[in-house]
Amino acid sequence: MRHIICTIILMTLFGCNSNKEEQTKDDSKIVYDMYEPSEMSLLMNEMYDYNLKIKEEILAGEIPKEFPLDFLKIHTAELSEFKSRNETFKSFSTLFINAEREVFKPNDSISIESRFNNAVGVCISCHQTECTGPIPRIKKLLIQ
Ligand code: HEC
Repeated sequence: MRHIICTIILMTLFGCNSNKEEQTKDDSKIVYDMYEPSEMSLLMNEMYDYNLKIKEEILAGEIPKEFPLDFLKIHTAELSEFKSRNETFKSFSTLFINAEREVFKPNDSISIESRFNNAVGVCISCHQTECTGPIPRIKKLLIQ
């Protein structure tokens, strides 16, 4: 029972409903020891880091080449407790994968910056439907 209560508190702090983006360092240290992120949370953080890398490449004038196949796990990764893969989630997953694939197309008539921002836009749109906490962080990925 204590474990369940703990999980709920932690999910409120760090999961989707969180508006508090950053905790003080000491707090997060204690919490991370106990917090078990879902497969989907891990994937999301991976996608965040990868897109940050792509953004830096684009800003450095490079064209990202390979679509990261790991992203396809969005269709299967296990979600945190209390969350289900509903139809909205499924359609946003497909939209997102298609938008992200566009980023890796060579010589497209649409600029790489727009295609990248469009993919990040789909991250944000899906998050607006059920998981608003990380949105301020995701917005930082956008190329201005
Ligand atoms: C299809 C809907 C959808 C798309 C698209 C999506 N997300 Fe998420 N995201 C979620 C859901 C749902 C969770 C909560 C996962 C859980 O708790 O199991 C989440 C969680 C997160 C988290 C918090 C992870 C944590 O530490 O708990 C971050 C950060 C995140 N997403 C970033 C992104 C980024 C960046 C993209 C685009 C590259 C993206 N998301 C695309 C639905 C989506």
